[in-house]
Amino acid sequence: MSAATATPSAATAASQIFEIRPFSGAVGAEIVGLDLSRPVNDRDFARIHRAHLDHHVVVFRDQQITPQQQIDFSRRFGVLQIHVLKQFLLADHPEILIVSNIIENGQNIGLGDAGKFWHSDLSYKELPSLGSMLHAQELPSEGGDTLFADMHKAWDDLPVALRNAVGGRFAAHSYTARYSETKFEGNWRPTLTPEQLAQVAEVVHPVVRTHPENGRKALFVSEGFTTRIVGLPEDESRQLLAELYAHSVLPQNIYRHQWEPHDLVFWDNRSLIHLAAGCPAHLRRKLYRTTIQGDAPF
Ligand code: SIN
Repeated sequence: MSAATATPSAATAASQIFEIRPFSGAVGAEIVGLDLSRPVNDRDFARIHRAHLDHHVVVFRDQQITPQQQIDFSRRFGVLQIHVLKQFLLADHPEILIVSNIIENGQNIGLGDAGKFWHSDLSYKELPSLGSMLHAQELPSEGGDTLFADMHKAWDDLPVALRNAVGGRFAAHSYTARYSETKFEGNWRPTLTPEQLAQVAEVVHPVVRTHPENGRKALFVSEGFTTRIVGLPEDESRQLLAELYAHSVLPQNIYRHQWEPHDLVFWDNRSLIHLAAGCPAHLRRKLYRTTIQGDAPF
């Protein structure tokens, strides 16, 4: 892990009493009793880090934290990535991407349809994300769930014919793969400038990656950002990707997060793909996302 060193206050802080409770399903655990507005010492941090690696998505309940506290905690895990859509970065806190369907004065205040297709955050970068933290600010009374699918399990259970078909192959990833496709009502995305397009030029990653910290293999393709398998004819590539996508999201490998007020959800983009299920357009939804940079996939 490229975790930054703890701040002096964290180094001397007392341990907090908190529980890590694994969910009964495929992945995920909730962390109850921890207060991230207080300094987290190295011992507590090590427990959280371990839980994140073991469960792939951890839900910190009832976190009444400021944007700066979210940024500081995220930085404990590595360098933060700034999203290409500068329009939707929080004022004075560019490390935070606003994920929201709210329109104020005729303007979308955030990215309303982030996660509308299954994806791993920033897989379209040379250095995709290690993990992302999403902090609930305003939640709809209906819908708005986020789903997570276990890509280690997808690889472990992949039928032999598909394993053979993808072994040693690479896939192209592009931010613009599905950029303009409307899925949610009220969806709106700004036209990318030439500078923004240059920041998200297509990249190529292995179809099967090895997690740098837990050593497990994981499928690393998604309908959101993967455009083709390198070296295959277009129709074969499309067919193979369709089979991989269908296999990746089998119901038994999915955790569906139903948001509660002040949840902070931290997932591992090297182990999971995720999807925003959407909510009725008239209901307000706003979350703050920080995105931690990972290693080049291998
Ligand atoms: C995301 O893909 O980062 C956003 C997920 C969500 O809005 O639930």
